[in-house]
Amino acid sequence: MSTSVFGQSIPRVDGPLKVSGGARYAFEFNQSGQLYAVIVNATIGIGRIVSIEATGVEQMPGVRAVISHLNAPKLTYSPHKGVIDPAVGERLRVFQDEQIRFFGQPVAVIVADTLDQAEHAATALRLRYDAQAPLTEIDDPRAQPIVAQQTAAANARVAADRERGSADQAFADTDVKVDAIFRMARENHSPMEPHATVASWEGDSLTVWSKSQYVLNERAELAAIFGIPPENVLVICPFVGGAFGTSLRTWSHVGIAALAARVVGRPVKLALTRKQMFLDTGHRPRTDQRIAIAATNQGKLTAIIHEATAETSRYEEFIEGITNQTEFLYSCPNVRTRYRLVPTDTSTPTYMRAPGECTGMHALECGLDELAAALDLDPIELRRRNEPTVDESNGRPFSSRSLLQCLETGAERFGWSQRNPRPGSMRDGRWQIGWGVAGSTRGAPQAPADASVRLLPDGRVEVASATSDMGPGTYTSMAQVAAATLGVPVERIKFELGRSDMPTAPSHGGSWTMASVGNAVRSACLAAQDAAVRRAVEDPASIFHGLTADVLHWKDGTLGRKNGEGPRLDQVALLRGGMPIDVRTTASRSTDIANRYSMYGYAAFFTEVAVDADLGIVRIRRMLGVYGIGKVVNPRLARSQCIGGMVGGIGMALMERTVLDQRDGRPVNAHMADYLVPVNLDVPTLETQFLDEQDDAVNPLGIKGIGELCIIGVAPAIANAVYHATGKRVRELPIRIENLLGA
Ligand code: MOS
Repeated sequence: MSTSVFGQSIPRVDGPLKVSGGARYAFEFNQSGQLYAVIVNATIGIGRIVSIEATGVEQMPGVRAVISHLNAPKLTYSPHKGVIDPAVGERLRVFQDEQIRFFGQPVAVIVADTLDQAEHAATALRLRYDAQAPLTEIDDPRAQPIVAQQTAAANARVAADRERGSADQAFADTDVKVDAIFRMARENHSPMEPHATVASWEGDSLTVWSKSQYVLNERAELAAIFGIPPENVLVICPFVGGAFGTSLRTWSHVGIAALAARVVGRPVKLALTRKQMFLDTGHRPRTDQRIAIAATNQGKLTAIIHEATAETSRYEEFIEGITNQTEFLYSCPNVRTRYRLVPTDTSTPTYMRAPGECTGMHALECGLDELAAALDLDPIELRRRNEPTVDESNGRPFSSRSLLQCLETGAERFGWSQRNPRPGSMRDGRWQIGWGVAGSTRGAPQAPADASVRLLPDGRVEVASATSDMGPGTYTSMAQVAAATLGVPVERIKFELGRSDMPTAPSHGGSWTMASVGNAVRSACLAAQDAAVRRAVEDPASIFHGLTADVLHWKDGTLGRKNGEGPRLDQVALLRGGMPIDVRTTASRSTDIANRYSMYGYAAFFTEVAVDADLGIVRIRRMLGVYGIGKVVNPRLARSQCIGGMVGGIGMALMERTVLDQRDGRPVNAHMADYLVPVNLDVPTLETQFLDEQDDAVNPLGIKGIGELCIIGVAPAIANAVYHATGKRVRELPIRIENLLGA
């Protein structure tokens, strides 16, 4: 492959569209004759609807329909093992019965001529409920933890209970140890772009312009709801204004938009308000974790125990791999992990950037820091002494492993050797200064993906796959892969995404888009080159007509003899006949490779915090991330993701927390004034460095993925720095002023 554009920091190809307002988001796809829908949400935590007084509202100006369980058509909701939806439980069926399962559950939708009329009518709709007291918190005395059905399955990998050696015995038998409980808040994704869907029917065919990270899942879900073939559903989403996982699933508002459009026989636009974004669009589950780690006096780990409890909803089971990294990240003969769910009367949690990993690694990396302090050992040295040679959870070799290199490179650049290890020893006036470090790891997955390539007679190349771009720069990076593989200028490539009728792509999540779709684009470009060679020998008008294909090849954008003799044809000359070349291929990882190696990316985070000694205010002063992620397609884009990961990690460490009113499950801070996220003043200079890493096993492009790895170690690095500054271990996220005030 030509290296001309692969690995280069070219600007985003869709940058001009975005800054000029030309990029269209779901909300902006207005349809002619369109009406507006506004959802009415339940105001109790659990119970049932007793009555709805719709008559007066139906008479209000502009109102076309008031749809609730009293008059909604019965929907099919055919069994559908959603590719992204929880496999266990009964999905929320909107307007199909009077039961209320959580605060904010949609109970009605108003359709009106204008948004204003629909909103006004929604506020006027009166419902009476029979309400009970919901259980909203996992530490409620009435809570009943369960083993997740999915992890109890014989072949379950994710988050199952596992043990090697005898962890509890080894823990009891060792002198130096840490045993701590970490509590982490529920978080909501809070992307800039709220959810929105525009729905339009023609007969039995449905088109939606809908915010989605996974248009194929949205198609499958809508087909299942309405009992129509997936081919009858077209989902379109060319741009996503941030998502972090909230747009992987198809939440209730999407079906409601389609239902409303069907009932009124007109296109309908439905957008969630910021407040509604906290009700039924998923969230990072609240968790409690116990981490217990023991080591010899020489700092060799003898036991790790990691027990996690997380919330799920009572009607669906959501699981994530909280304890998975604990099994392999460090060398330790005795490791036990345990995972429990507490069903609560709330909406179902979902994937949120580094789901599970981010949570579990916080406890592990803080626990390790506490152990280092107990041993009076540098935290990097402790990790060095416990570096495994193979993945001890399954005995497989690592395809590549750069944790220590990330730590050592970062330590050098950050000036770690200047750190006085004694907590509270570094000051800057009234500010207590702390330096903290943490490691990060996440799997380097690749899912089967398809891509199509079309070589056009005028020299342009069209590439497509039904993936998405929620911010990483998919449009740009895929164009780079195609340009580099074909050996043509990147300006000639047009990569398209975000339509459910495009070649199959996996979810745009899990950090696997570059590895999955990127390798599919590469394969499709190689297939296009083969097709070009076949065309050249088969076309009677071609100067290569009659040759055997094996003497020709495509190289650096032109086609000619392998031995270098004679003329070479570029795409325009080759396709002079006028017929484009169309190919479509699949790329996937072989089972053999998948079973042979342990494949992970790694990173290390260093941060300096300043804590106001009197007021407990925490400021991040600087942060450095060093990443071992295989090949980097576009350092500018990758750096942008890494900065986003650090900003998200700062939010997780110090700000983000969704608080529920325990009386009714209402999220009390469901708006951006009280659900805090970092703003410019909270974010210092952020430095990033990518190791030069070559991993030939992961996939042909050598891609490991970064979108989630880059948030995982950030919060523990901050928590460890806060300890170093103050001598206080705050084992709760977010770390708030209240945690730091007092002795
Ligand atoms: Mo994500 S949670 O990979 O969108």
